[in-house]
Amino acid sequence: MSSETPHAAEGLDAYEVALKDERSAVIRGATIADAAQQLTVERETHTLGKGTMQLLEELSQSVEEQERAIDRFIAGQWAGLEGASIVAEVDGELAGEVNLKRFPLARLRHNARLGLGVSPKFQALGIGRALMEAAIRWARMTQEHEDPGVTRIDLSHIGGNDRAHALYESLGFRQVGVHTNKVRDPDGTLRTDVDMELLLD
Ligand SMILES: CC(C)(COP(=O)(O)OP(=O)(O)OC[C@H]1O[C@@H](n2cnc3c(N)ncnc32)[C@H](O)[C@@H]1OP(=O)(O)O)[C@@H](O)C(=O)NCCC(=O)NCCS
Repeated sequence: MSSETPHAAEGLDAYEVALKDERSAVIRGATIADAAQQLTVERETHTLGKGTMQLLEELSQSVEEQERAIDRFIAGQWAGLEGASIVAEVDGELAGEVNLKRFPLARLRHNARLGLGVSPKFQALGIGRALMEAAIRWARMTQEHEDPGVTRIDLSHIGGNDRAHALYESLGFRQVGVHTNKVRDPDGTLRTDVDMELLLD
């Protein structure tokens, strides 16, 4: 973390949340040391039907590649509030992650794009909701240090991902568009993509 910009880390301080199975998760900012486990989470979370947009071969192919990706991300995260990579850890194991990326253009800087994934074995325990709440908290934190900071979060999910849609709606996101046939699987199956946004005061 850069000493000149301590404010950037504030929204990523570690804290614990209780899960539905009596265990707890630590919610904290990602570090380079998380690369290998992050890769595992992304591979395990990968489902062609409704979940992740990338194909399996489009995820990092090695821990080193993932480290480079996190390094770029974290450099921006600590240094300039450019985005955040937040993870959930359960009993020392990485269970899920949420990533927020800001747009570099001045007129778009108040927007952040969100991506979320929880490993199947840790799903339905409250981790997805906890990570979303952490992401929204981080966005609000940017407002304390910049004018305007992040005042809009957007995301998209593949049509039929009802669990994700309900989670986002319960947090105040609203559907703003449906793109018919935007997603094409390798076997030719065409799927809709649903855009959602959250406007923060
Ligand atoms: C969508 C996803 C992130 C949700 O994470 P999660 O940790 O399972 O979610 P939570 O346990 O916090 O549950 C969130 C809500 O989903 C619903 N939910 C959870 N488990 C469910 C289940 N088995 N069946 C139906 N609904 C369920 C509940 O309504 C819950 O709301 P509640 O907090 O009021 O109980 C996770 O399923 C996932 O990673 N899926 C694959 C990748 C993906 O779809 N990512 C999002 C793409 S945009």
